[in-house]
Amino acid sequence: MTLAPETTALKLQLLLEEDWFTVCDLSLLTPGRGVAALLPDGRQVALFADRAGRTYAIDNRDPFSGAAVLSRGLTGTHQGRPFVASPLLKQRFDLETGRCLDDETVSVAVYEVRTS
Ligand code: FES
Repeated sequence: MTLAPETTALKLQLLLEEDWFTVCDLSLLTPGRGVAALLPDGRQVALFADRAGRTYAIDNRDPFSGAAVLSRGLTGTHQGRPFVASPLLKQRFDLETGRCLDDETVSVAVYEVRTS
């Protein structure tokens, strides 16, 4: 059976190893607010969407505190690049590269993300 396109919600997918993994409906993301999701291997990913409709996926674990909290951080832009600030110690992470803006020796994993 084929569903008509208008009844098919867009899904958010992450590239894991070599396969696209469907995480959730894109409609669950609110611009500027993160959502955490559990991956098959037990890791957590923090998902974000911006007002332009771009989506980002980074590891949810804050490397400074070890807590899985980045999805709950505040988002913003720095020099035109989107970031999330850890809700604990406030370090900022670039949503496209995972690099910490406040300590260049630290980064979090980023996932390739698409909607389908
Ligand atoms: S956000 Fe203020 S100096 Fe970078």
